[in-house]
This record gives sequence, structure tokens and C-alpha cells, in this order.
Amino acid sequence: MTTLTSSNLIERIGNTPTIELKSFSTKNLRFFAKLEWYNPYGSVKDRAAYWMIKNAEKKGLLKKDKSIIIEPSSGNTGIALTGIASTLGYRVEIVIPEKVSEETKNILRKLGATVHETSDDLCPRVGAGTDQSIALATAISKPRPDLYYMPNQYENDANYMAHYESTGPEIWKQMAGNLTHFFTGCGTGGTITGTSTYLKEQNSSIKIIAVQAQKNHLLQGLRNFEESAMPELFTRRQHVVDSWFTATNDESFRMVKELAFRENLLVGPSSGAVMASMLDVAKSVGHGVLVGIFADDGRKFKTLYAEQHIFNQAEYERLLRVNEYLPETACPYSYD
Ligand SMILES: Cc1ncc(COP(=O)(O)O)c(C=O)c1O
Repeated sequence: MTTLTSSNLIERIGNTPTIELKSFSTKNLRFFAKLEWYNPYGSVKDRAAYWMIKNAEKKGLLKKDKSIIIEPSSGNTGIALTGIASTLGYRVEIVIPEKVSEETKNILRKLGATVHETSDDLCPRVGAGTDQSIALATAISKPRPDLYYMPNQYENDANYMAHYESTGPEIWKQMAGNLTHFFTGCGTGGTITGTSTYLKEQNSSIKIIAVQAQKNHLLQGLRNFEESAMPELFTRRQHVVDSWFTATNDESFRMVKELAFRENLLVGPSSGAVMASMLDVAKSVGHGVLVGIFADDGRKFKTLYAEQHIFNQAEYERLLRVNEYLPETACPYSYD
């Protein structure tokens, strides 16, 4: 696999495709997914990472070839920040929970990040006494403000703006304004607050469904808001949410499997969670056009999917071969 080079990568952030999930659609209910792994570093988080770096540069907080960007992340923000920042001449350190997939940690190292592991569960937790990753990143960066910059995706409004200025307008345009429900998983809340604020400004009757993970979950990128406090970024605009769906590990993995066999899509666990929430809402609405964010693909989860018996080796290999929606990413992804 050839690796894309850096020069035009940043221009390739955003404008990801939205496709119809035809095997799920009926005459009255149509299902669409926005495939965020088309971003150059493989996930929805390219947007937030780029907006946060751009914003820090604008404010003069970063010095080329000197500054180190440090951030707590459950993976995708770390990958995006590392890829984008190294293109722009900054070093990156990522504080990551040890339960994050080995593939994710390997990608970070291959991209050149220094990786600090903590014993947090799958996501850096927010809230007193639980936020080991966030606390460690803060402890490293605070005494050296001349060297370190911590974007802090949990509070940084540039994370919200990324989706207000890109994800929201793209969906509105791609759907030509024809959607009734919007679904996304929640980590920091950047995707849901930014996208939904924009969509509701265009049509206030669009219903917004927030997807959280069950407690003690395996859905990398998502959070459970009883286990972990709601990030400040999310609390500022949580009024955009019309209803919540709590996805279990089991139903999310079942959907990962269904999407593979019915649509030939190899999705990440959180996309399975979003699909489960779309089908749940579909049970109670007669007509509608439902759009969900599929935040990343399944290539980082080969080991997890094997452990959870989602796919055997042959099924996984077949999916990689037949999946027309797995573009090359900019990461040196060998996924092993
Ligand atoms: C893998 C992954 N990363 C990130 C996000 C979105 O996170 P945030 O709320 O931080 O924008 C999601 C949401 O579905 C996700 O599944």
C-alpha cells in the first residue's frame, strides 16, 4: 500500500461521503451513513484536531519546530493530531488509556507520537478522581508552558466549531436539506453539538439522537455519562439533544456484523452503536430520513473483533477485499 504524502493531506479533511444503507431502507424510512474514515487520518477526529491546531496557531500558541502538542485521547484524536501536527512541524505526545486497541497504539507510534499509557478504561474519564489521562497530560504540560500546548478537546470550542463549520454544512448539502433525524456517538460532544447546532439552524424540527455506550464498554471513542462526567464542551450546548440511546456492547457488535454482511461495510464499534440507535428510533417513526455518523472503520479493531468472535479470519479478509468504502488513509496503517 502506498502512503499518501503530507503536502495535500490537510486539504483532504472533510467532504466525506454520505451513502444510503440500501438494505435497511424501505419506501418510508431511509437510512444514510456519513463515512468519516474517508478523512486522511481515518476518523471524524481529523476535523477537531485540525480546527484546534489552526485555532492555536492563529492565537500564537504554537512555535514551529519547537512546540510539543500533548493531549489525552482514546485514539482517534491522538492519531489525527499526530498526523496533522507533524505535517505542520510540531511534535506530539499522547496520553492514552492502556485498554485502547494495540492497533491504535501502534499507529500512534508509527506516526511518531510519544505515547504515555494510563490505567484508565477505554476513554479518558472526565470528572474528579477518574481523569487519569487528562490529569497526566495536564501534569506534564502545565509546568512547561513554553514547550507544551494541550488543546484539551474536552473544553476547546474549536472542537465544536469544526463540526459547526464542516460536518453540519456537508450533511445539509449532501442530503439537500432532506433529513428528519441525526444520530451520532458522543465522546467529547464536539460532533453532536457542532453538527446539530448547524442542522437545527437550518431546520429546527430535525431530531437529534445522542448515542452513549453502556457502562464498562468496549466501544472505543464513546463514553458513558454515568461512569464519566459530561465534558464541559458538551454541557455548554447539550440542549441540542432531543433524545438519548444507550448502546450495549452486544447490540453494537451485532450491528458491526450486520453492516458487514448486508452492506459490505467494515465499520468500527461505535458505528455499530449508531446503527443500533437508528434501528431503534425507526421502530417508532412511520416516515423519516435518518442520517448517522460512522466515525471510523474496522481496520483498527481486528484483534478486538477476533476476541469478540465478530469475524473469523476468512470473513475479515473477505471484507477487506470487497469493501469498496475502505480508501487508503494517510496513516502508515499496517493495522498490526
Ligand atoms: C470512534 C469515535 N470517535 C469520536 C467520536 C465522536 O466524538 P466527539 O463526541 O468527541 O466528537 C465518535 C462518535 O461516534 C466515535 O465513535
